[in-house]
Amino acid sequence: MVSHPDLLVGNDTGDDAAVYRLDKNTAIIVTVDFFTPITDDPYEFGVIAAANSLSDVYAMGGKPLVALNIVGFPAELAVDMLGDVLKGGYDKAAEAGCLIVGGHTVDDSEPKYGLSVVGLIEPGKEVSNAKAQPGDVLVLTKPIGTGIITTGCKQGITPDDILKNAVDVMATLNKGAAEAMMRVGINSCTDITGFGLMGHLRGMTRGSKVGAIINASDVPVLPGVWDLLGKNVVPGGTFRNMNGVEDSVDWDKSLTDQQRLLMCDAQTSGGLLISVTKDKVEKLLSELEISGVETRVIVGEITAENSGRILVKA
Ligand code: CO
Ligand code: CO
Repeated sequence: MVSHPDLLVGNDTGDDAAVYRLDKNTAIIVTVDFFTPITDDPYEFGVIAAANSLSDVYAMGGKPLVALNIVGFPAELAVDMLGDVLKGGYDKAAEAGCLIVGGHTVDDSEPKYGLSVVGLIEPGKEVSNAKAQPGDVLVLTKPIGTGIITTGCKQGITPDDILKNAVDVMATLNKGAAEAMMRVGINSCTDITGFGLMGHLRGMTRGSKVGAIINASDVPVLPGVWDLLGKNVVPGGTFRNMNGVEDSVDWDKSLTDQQRLLMCDAQTSGGLLISVTKDKVEKLLSELEISGVETRVIVGEITAENSGRILVKA
């Protein structure tokens, strides 16, 4: 564990990014994320990878400022393809008002792309995943199931319109959601990515030393996900996530294996999971609407009892 008087958020809380204070008005948020292609379209891959990388700054309540490309690319693949990936990244960063100012590429057997992002926040305004309070309401800002849909795509069985909708959701910045939550003032936030809804919520409950209840039937799910689950389309990462949270989750007996897996589905560029006091939740929902956030759903609550544990109701 690293500690320093100006390190406002370090690596001890499993937060989405680190926050370092430069002076009393300014702190920087620093983060890095990159992964292998999730769809066949290189431009789309660039867009989604950038949206995903920028999301960790938004989860901290910040504003992305500058970023560096991180690229692994096979020398034998067409350079045009890499150009398309980078173009996607630049376009999405531009939408976020973030400048990509350089980067580094290495020869790699499998393509990889992402950004290291530097963002800004006023010291004391940074949002941690470790400050959820008992009685808080949990709000989720994107539907889940992208892992299942993209795995179905790799197997050639995800219908085109289902994939296109999921790509649009993954490509959507968490900018509007972050701005809305900062206008309201919320207690805690994290973005839902590789560890799935359960894994990231577990990080929040452990960091905050609270428990949580999730109402599985309230969790928004992307169209097409149940069909694919019915065909046993589940990414390897989702099974690992489910095993990983086994010691912290109490599942309602009536939940099927498919429902449990979905709650653990590894997400790419998922939404924000926001913990807000009960008296501010209506305000948050209306600010999310004003920011153009399409999905804004109450999925559960934070409890004082069962610290570090999640109860999933049917
Ligand atoms: Co994150
Ligand atoms: Co991340």
